[in-house]
Amino acid sequence: MTIEIQAVGSLQVMPLLHPQGCRGYLVVDPASKEALLLDAHLDHATEAAMLLESHELDLKWIVDSHTHADHPSASAVLAGHAGATRVAHARSKHVGVTYMPDDTAPLPLGDQKVTVRHAPGHTPDHMVLVSDGAVFTGDSLLIGGVARADFIGGDAGELFDSLHDVVLAQPDEAIVYPGHDYKGRVHSTIGEERKDNAWLKITDRDQFVSSLTATKPPEPANMAALLRFNVDGQPVPQFISAQETMEVVANGGAGTIIDVRTLEELQGAHIAGARHIVMDDILERADEVRMTPAPRLILCRLGQRAAMVASALTQQGIGGISVIEGGIVAYAQAGGATEGGDPGAALEGGGCCAAEPPPSCAAEPPPE
Ligand SMILES: [Fe+2]
Repeated sequence: MTIEIQAVGSLQVMPLLHPQGCRGYLVVDPASKEALLLDAHLDHATEAAMLLESHELDLKWIVDSHTHADHPSASAVLAGHAGATRVAHARSKHVGVTYMPDDTAPLPLGDQKVTVRHAPGHTPDHMVLVSDGAVFTGDSLLIGGVARADFIGGDAGELFDSLHDVVLAQPDEAIVYPGHDYKGRVHSTIGEERKDNAWLKITDRDQFVSSLTATKPPEPANMAALLRFNVDGQPVPQFISAQETMEVVANGGAGTIIDVRTLEELQGAHIAGARHIVMDDILERADEVRMTPAPRLILCRLGQRAAMVASALTQQGIGGISVIEGGIVAYAQAGGATEGGDPGAALEGGGCCAAEPPPSCAAEPPPE
């Protein structure tokens, strides 16, 4: 793994870039080797642990800038690492967080520090982290954009206030590290954003609010499950029952079910909307799995192949994987809706000519 190390003031920043557009950061004081991990995606848990080990870093702080509703956080998984303190804002409801600062609280790294600023709007518990030379804007200011403010307690007016009172109070040369970027960019500066960001040119609060709330994008896939994981601390189970899978399908569609059976089997019963990645191709298409919203539920006929696939994907550092117990046979027996033929007879399906589905990563960027 190659991670770029960027020097910012006296600190170093190692960006963790997720193909879904999530941005996490390892912030290091090179003198003391103390480190802070911000907004790491669950898929980066292994990578972050390896970085800490290979650079011989002492992880002091694990921070979520806010309650994430669109992806699973690595914070709970990494929380026990070397006695690091898990941090979220005082208005968050995270189980397992041991330090809940409000505004202007310092997070020391050796003789340096990163300062918490409360910056609500995207969520009530949102905070921005400020260091000498950088501002980690989370989901407030994005490069050329701003975050949405229409779910889990978001408030567009508060976002306007946070942008103008907290974020834009930083000097023009401060480097902006956002919580997301869907175009592959890593950083910007306050000066560049002040000059080019159309949202920052709206100086009237009411106009900003009406513009930001004019449309309501769809909620993130699996939001309820992600909040259970990120806030309530419920781990993604290794196995999920057919009954629970039916609830996932009923509540949010089957976009995160990954069917690893053969094309011939798929001619029989299948779950509408499930992704199809043949078991033999799973490692080759691991990046495609990374692009799917987590939790990812792996499906085969009876569960054995799904368990092997789950193990292989976990070894690739992909998190949030569950095996659907008993496969599509149990799912159909439990009353789950399927399309196609008989799930039990699926292996005997004729080998005719189903086309591969289009690549899943061609989807529009997430709304957040
Ligand atoms: Fe967010």
